[in-house]
Amino acid sequence: MPLKSRHLLGLEQLTREEINLVLDTASSMKEILGRPIKKVPALRGKTVINLFYEASTRTRTSFELAAKHLSADSVNIATAASSVTKGESLIDTAATLRALGADAVVLRHPMAGAPHLLARKVDCAVINAGDGAHEHPTQALLDLFTIREKKGRLADLTVVITGDIAHSRVARSNIWGLSKLGARVRLCGPETLLPSGLEQLPVEKYHDFDRAIAGADVVMMLRLQLERQQQGLFPSLREYARLYGLSRQRLGLAAPDALVMHPGPINRGVEIAADVADGAQSVINEQVTNGVAVRMAVLYLLIGGGGGNESDPAGR
Ligand code: CP
Repeated sequence: MPLKSRHLLGLEQLTREEINLVLDTASSMKEILGRPIKKVPALRGKTVINLFYEASTRTRTSFELAAKHLSADSVNIATAASSVTKGESLIDTAATLRALGADAVVLRHPMAGAPHLLARKVDCAVINAGDGAHEHPTQALLDLFTIREKKGRLADLTVVITGDIAHSRVARSNIWGLSKLGARVRLCGPETLLPSGLEQLPVEKYHDFDRAIAGADVVMMLRLQLERQQQGLFPSLREYARLYGLSRQRLGLAAPDALVMHPGPINRGVEIAADVADGAQSVINEQVTNGVAVRMAVLYLLIGGGGGNESDPAGR
């Protein structure tokens, strides 16, 4: 069963079966990452271009590594050093990259909907690496993969997502992915950091973090996106950390084996205490490692030619 679209724009559009296909393919890819030589020829001759209009460490690097592990050629465009600075539009930039032979463009852009526009204009796969506050599908896929790997399932788990939900593309993609795979999603934050329209989504809304975290199987913390916020959404960082920060004491209210997750980058001492981020329940570094396997799976399924029907990409 292949993915229906040639693009990955968000988890809102993916079915439960398609999400499971990506996660199952990522399991094969993770096996490759455990080998002494982490390379298979699955995407030999293909070209992947990372076009990032916003800063990134994890996403850009893991897409680059994912392409290299699958033997694709991988190129990074830093827009600050490209002809974007001379006024070239997103569409013209992508058309140029396609003319240079791109099979996939991985796009991060501050405007919600930018990858959707690109997908209508260029004749190659488009992968959304984060569009404004809209979606970040590969981050949510790696989060789902990490939870499934640790807990063995998603169904019937309680996942609390706390922090700046209003500005979080990670939260939005996770809401779709977690609910499609049967998890219960609790969203928690001050009213000013919760988006309007939540009643239309399959989530429960909380303002009291102690109530939201009670018995949770997974605690997913989000960074305060000060760069996307207007002033005055909460009284002070100190107040925010007291009410919505994950301390060791507050983590004690969750299930004893609860996972602590964060998409990064972390603001230590704001949304998460340093000893919790580095503690035994934290899977933050495993999320990063799994990001490579998940992005290998996405690239393979979109431009590998087999849409999931080819022989095992791990060559077993
Ligand atoms: N989680 C995430 O998207 O991190 P980067 O901004 O470093 O890619």
